[in-house]
Amino acid sequence: MPSPTAPDQDQVLIFDTTLRDGEQSPGATMTHAEKLEIAALLDEMGVDIIEAGFPIASEGDFAAVSEIAMASRNSMICGLARANFKDIDRAWEAVKHAVRPRIHTFIGTSPLHREITKLTQEEMVARIHDTVTHARNLCDNVQWSPMDATRTEHDYLRRVVETAIKAGATTINIPDTVGYTAPRESADLIAMLIAEVPGADEVTFATHCHNDLGMATANSLAAVEAGARQIECTINGLGERAGNTALEEVVMAMRVRNDIMPYDTGIDTTKIIGLSRRVAAVSGFAVQPNKAIVGKNAFAHESGIHQDGMLKNSETFEIMRPSDIGLSETSLVMGKHSGRAALRSKLKNLGYDLADNQLNDVFVRFKALADRKKEVYDDDLIALMTDASVEAGNDRIRIKFLRVICGTEAPQSADLTLTIDGEDRQVTAQGDGPVDASFNAVKALVPHKARLQLYEVHAVTAGTDAQATVSVRLEEDGRIVTGSSADTDTVVASAKAYVAALNRLMVRRAAGDPVSYKDVI
Ligand code: KIV
Ligand code: ZN
Repeated sequence: MPSPTAPDQDQVLIFDTTLRDGEQSPGATMTHAEKLEIAALLDEMGVDIIEAGFPIASEGDFAAVSEIAMASRNSMICGLARANFKDIDRAWEAVKHAVRPRIHTFIGTSPLHREITKLTQEEMVARIHDTVTHARNLCDNVQWSPMDATRTEHDYLRRVVETAIKAGATTINIPDTVGYTAPRESADLIAMLIAEVPGADEVTFATHCHNDLGMATANSLAAVEAGARQIECTINGLGERAGNTALEEVVMAMRVRNDIMPYDTGIDTTKIIGLSRRVAAVSGFAVQPNKAIVGKNAFAHESGIHQDGMLKNSETFEIMRPSDIGLSETSLVMGKHSGRAALRSKLKNLGYDLADNQLNDVFVRFKALADRKKEVYDDDLIALMTDASVEAGNDRIRIKFLRVICGTEAPQSADLTLTIDGEDRQVTAQGDGPVDASFNAVKALVPHKARLQLYEVHAVTAGTDAQATVSVRLEEDGRIVTGSSADTDTVVASAKAYVAALNRLMVRRAAGDPVSYKDVI
């Protein structure tokens, strides 16, 4: 009998773990509101399963998973749990209000992981039996994963998968935790498990790949060809180290090459670019320009020969249309005479559905930008939205005034007023350049020991009046946070990004340190 969540034979379920595996990549931490917003967009896009978080990790994770579960409409909502009753109970408490809840429990099965957990093979089999049975008594939709499956002995892997199926797992996920496998091996492993494990035909097999060798997309698709019917992935391939399988890549590959990969997904691909931009903005992880599908250059045809070919027949160099992923044909948008309705409709097209009060705030910012900049492009609006969302948080620190003196005569100095917890405080500080002076002023007003890990500046569009987007990553006692901001003044954008990172650090400090899912057992 097939599992109750089994897809049709030609249907591949899309399991998005941006909010769990993606968010656990250092510095990608999202706020509660951002997680809810991303989950709503994933649900609307047609993602089958949203892994919303790791409920036992912290009160914040629990609250986010429960609220996402309550707000869910069509997607199954999944919470991660290690192989113990406490984790599983907490995951169930968080997901149980979803229309379609799922518990995902896992344990590391490879020799390296068995050494860490200090369990013998027998003890681990017993643990899997007990924990999956417990999860299944709570929920009829249980996913089980042998972490580091691709480095687990095949005999033992067959045994643990059989144990989980007998205990009631409905989905068996095969993770390539360290991105070690290759396409043929990925396919062979899935084919072997489906052919040789008793009860394999009763469950759905899933593939969960990491991109350490740049093969996550190829490995996921190879697993599907061998019989897996669920792909685990993240938007933009967000994830620790080299990231996870990118949702947009596997979905578009199966759509564009449906002739040789005849599988369907329920994804509305026109929502891809909006989600990609939102995830980049809230995680602070910019998309590389030449990234497949969602990179800035993915549909840009700059060389003369390409442009000529494109004008004659767009299929000469395009295997998919920009509109397939939700990109509008033109990027020149509006100017200072554009109205509120035009802005709302343009933002909706870019993936931002705003409530009236949010629109009012963004409209004021848009007018200020249009006064400073002759032409406002899509990318300018996206930068503006990034900036607006940063400031919409529970910010304890805000920049009230910043004036910087810079030029050939050192030292440069910054005159800064911050509003901290409602109180204005002013300082003048010097530094080696205007950004350094501004950062020193922030440090003087908000003393902290966080270390600057990354400072990155990008021009949003061409031209000397272009906005700059700045990302700042800070590290303090192992907590890593990212802040981003945009402004036509690079120094102002830098100071705002720094302050945004500090605000996030304060939230993290107050929430305490969440447990990592890697602290196995
Ligand atoms: O990569 C991995 O093994 C994981 C598991 C928790 C499924 O993310
Ligand atoms: Zn993973």
